[in-house]
Amino acid sequence: MNNRDLGPRVIVALDYATGAEALAFAQRLDPKRCRVKVGKELFTVAGPALVEQLVARGFDLFLDLKYHDIPNTVAAACKAAAGLGVWMINVHASGGRTMMQAAREALAGQVRPPKLIAVTVLTSLGAEDLRETGQTEEPAVLAERLARLAAASGMDGVVCSAQEASRLRQACGTDFCLVTPGIRLPDAAQDDQKRIVTPGVAVSSGADYLVVGRPITKAVDPLAVLDRINAEIAAATGR
Ligand code: C5P
Repeated sequence: MNNRDLGPRVIVALDYATGAEALAFAQRLDPKRCRVKVGKELFTVAGPALVEQLVARGFDLFLDLKYHDIPNTVAAACKAAAGLGVWMINVHASGGRTMMQAAREALAGQVRPPKLIAVTVLTSLGAEDLRETGQTEEPAVLAERLARLAAASGMDGVVCSAQEASRLRQACGTDFCLVTPGIRLPDAAQDDQKRIVTPGVAVSSGADYLVVGRPITKAVDPLAVLDRINAEIAAATGR
């Protein structure tokens, strides 16, 4: 399987407090020009029904629930998520090899299994935060260690900062899928993201998919911003 498939490379984060708001916004989006992401807040309020509605509208959907539990529980959750017809799901690489392998095995019988990716180090954690949890490695070193473990455990890729993308691409090879949040157009507000990267730089660094939330969802003209991001990606990749 080639994990670096074609198709839209922007994943719009539907970070809304209600299913109605998320659906109303998704109504304005074209599944040919972007994919969508449903995270913990939206899933907690709107649940599987909303996910199925978005999938039925033709969207490739990333269900961003970052599973981290004992292997049996994570495997069962992954199987349930796959049953919703989603395109991508994720687990925490720090859950360990056995947990990730159990997640992989749980998807084995699926006709169209979702891409299964792992979170390495949350970008909200700095070196000091990690030390407090007993992790003495620098965040980038730990991210590479966990990305290698994810690859060895059968994951299709990882979520990472675009600033780490070239390092992880080198470490894990061309077939490993890199999903990067923290994307901003050069003239956009940073919001609460600290280490931002432009779409062109992200894909040039090796990112396959770019998670973009507020720059699109809070824009006066969301479709125009999406077009600009897609144009920047096309210019950087030559396609
Ligand atoms: O609005 P913004 O573009 O900052 O949204 C980024 C999205 O990516 C949010 O849904 C956020 O939860 C997610 N994310 C992130 N940083 C990470 C992992 C996920 O911003 N390290």
